[in-house]
Amino acid sequence: MQGVNSLKQGERQEMVVQEAGPRPEHVAIIMDGNGRWAQARGLPRIMGHRAGMEAVRRVVQSAPGLGIKYLTLFAFSTENWRRPRLEVEGLFALLREYVEKETSDLKAQGVRVRFLGERENLPQAAKKVIERCEAETAGCTRLMLNIALNYGGRAEIVRAARALASRAAAGQLEPDAITAEVLAAELYTRGMPDPDLLIRTSGEMRLSNFLLWQLAYTELYFTDVLWPDFTQDDLAQALAAYRKRERRFGGIQNRG
Ligand code: FPP
Repeated sequence: MQGVNSLKQGERQEMVVQEAGPRPEHVAIIMDGNGRWAQARGLPRIMGHRAGMEAVRRVVQSAPGLGIKYLTLFAFSTENWRRPRLEVEGLFALLREYVEKETSDLKAQGVRVRFLGERENLPQAAKKVIERCEAETAGCTRLMLNIALNYGGRAEIVRAARALASRAAAGQLEPDAITAEVLAAELYTRGMPDPDLLIRTSGEMRLSNFLLWQLAYTELYFTDVLWPDFTQDDLAQALAAYRKRERRFGGIQNRG
């Protein structure tokens, strides 16, 4: 049989779709390497983020055709505020540009957009744009696109613990009634399945405080490709690698 790597991009995607075996319903991505991509070209870091935005467009467009139903992207962490002010402002400007320009296209593609993370201290203008985008795409069902913005995994779990503690303190919740499901219902991802596959680009092998609760049984895939260079083809390769994994969720399935 012809090896997957000797096929052209379109053919490879087709093959991933047609091949039998598990396909991830929920893919999460840590889009890393924008700064290094820019640096390698002698460009300001923000140009790397701009090229990264193009990669976001490519991945969002190809995801539904590859059977992906939920796509969760890490756009800005609670730790990213520590970056130089100009870079932070540039990133927010880019996000606004993406959301403002793309909302109607996303809606036409059937993409429902949701933002995960703390809204409270976001710039006012960003808050408005994301609320409008969420409202306008609320009826779409082809792809659920989650953009993690001002997001931190520990902060998300702390927030959920506080919500449960207040209900318990008010006598509305018995401590014994707190289960994993009850806690998960307080997370930003409530009602969504956990990611099946996490992709991190640029060769780093860390979770960086992303979806700490939700990634408990997720398959991890690391690639050296820098995020701005990440193509539909790279996504198809990650899915092909996923198909070869044996997911046991702590059990001993498929041992013959
Ligand atoms: C990590 O690269 C990337 C980020 C902190 C930002 C990701 C943002 C985008 C791709 C822009 C647009 C996003 C959306 C959802 C439209 P890095 O800067 O840490 O790279 P480095 O490790 O090479 O320095």
